[in-house]
Amino acid sequence: MPLLAFETSCDETSAAVIHQNTVLSNVVSSQVKLHAEYGGVVPELAAREHLRNLVPVARAALQKAGVTADRLAAICATQGPGLPSALMVGFKAAEAMAFALRCDFIGIHHHEAHLYSPWIHGDPPAADFNEFQPNVSLVVSGGHTMLVHVLPGMKPRLLGSTLDDAAGECFDKIGKLMGLPYPAGPIIDRLAEQGNPRAFEFPRPLINDLTHDFSFSGLKTSVRYFLRDHPETMEREEQLRDLCASVQAAIVDVLVTKTCNAARSVSAQCVTASGGVACNRSLRMRLEQNCKAEGIQLRLAAPFFCTDNAAMIGILGEMKLRTSGKATSLEADVLPNWPLVDLSQ
Ligand code: KG4
Ligand code: ZN
Repeated sequence: MPLLAFETSCDETSAAVIHQNTVLSNVVSSQVKLHAEYGGVVPELAAREHLRNLVPVARAALQKAGVTADRLAAICATQGPGLPSALMVGFKAAEAMAFALRCDFIGIHHHEAHLYSPWIHGDPPAADFNEFQPNVSLVVSGGHTMLVHVLPGMKPRLLGSTLDDAAGECFDKIGKLMGLPYPAGPIIDRLAEQGNPRAFEFPRPLINDLTHDFSFSGLKTSVRYFLRDHPETMEREEQLRDLCASVQAAIVDVLVTKTCNAARSVSAQCVTASGGVACNRSLRMRLEQNCKAEGIQLRLAAPFFCTDNAAMIGILGEMKLRTSGKATSLEADVLPNWPLVDLSQ
């Protein structure tokens, strides 16, 4: 019997219907335009927008899947981490729905769900867990940048994460310094395409560090000083492209080098990547080149499943109900700061 999943941890309202590892529907309503005006996500506005959108999005997901609510076997929702008020909208609605329908309910860790999104492929999209391999997973978005060791049937092990800004936040904040609209990541990706990545030299923080942690705030500061000293860069299209390509090269270099180092350190034969920044074309290409050179299998989440979506929440929810059968209490609350290390299975 199918399962309905909700995701409202940040600025995407999403609902999906999952049945036997297959995504029957995955509806995403993005609030990106709403927050663009403010240069970043405004939590209170995000929560209000989720409230407005949740029911139409859920209805559309059920309709698209051809499933009526009375046929649902379970409901699941992102429990954390994320923006407290945003999480609360989806999570509490999901609890109420599970109560009314008398079906199972399960709260999902948002980052754990990202770890499985690279396994969703095809048409209709389905998670091919038969092909699952132990892997090192790079989860990289506006809110998180982390490397996780994922082993079948075990707790995911956090290898490292950012000590300050997330990589997507770095793209966005540097874009803001350059006068680009929010979110700047995809725009920098596009402008960088025709730029010279070696035109300007920027630091690659912690690239040779022995830990698997990241740090991006120093890179942002160094671009700030660069722009203060070379304001003319912004006025010439060609130089702006070179600047975008050089900034992107610094971020991508760090992400790729540290991901491959982490895979080597735990002898993983497979690397996966997900999160909004995993849409970046240069990152995807460099991961492909480096993994190929090291004989490591690479699984990149499809761009549509890189960004926040309820399908990955439902795929993990169904897997958890199948393997552990453990449901979440209908009195459970959201966990905005839920650390990955706290996961118990
Ligand atoms: O996963 P996501 O939709 O939301 C969260 O942050 O959780 O990721 C959004 C982030 C933004 O920082 C955006 O600038 C970045 O992903 N992003 C990109 C690209 N597409 C999205 N960054 C670089 N290149 C891209 N093509
Ligand atoms: Zn996310």
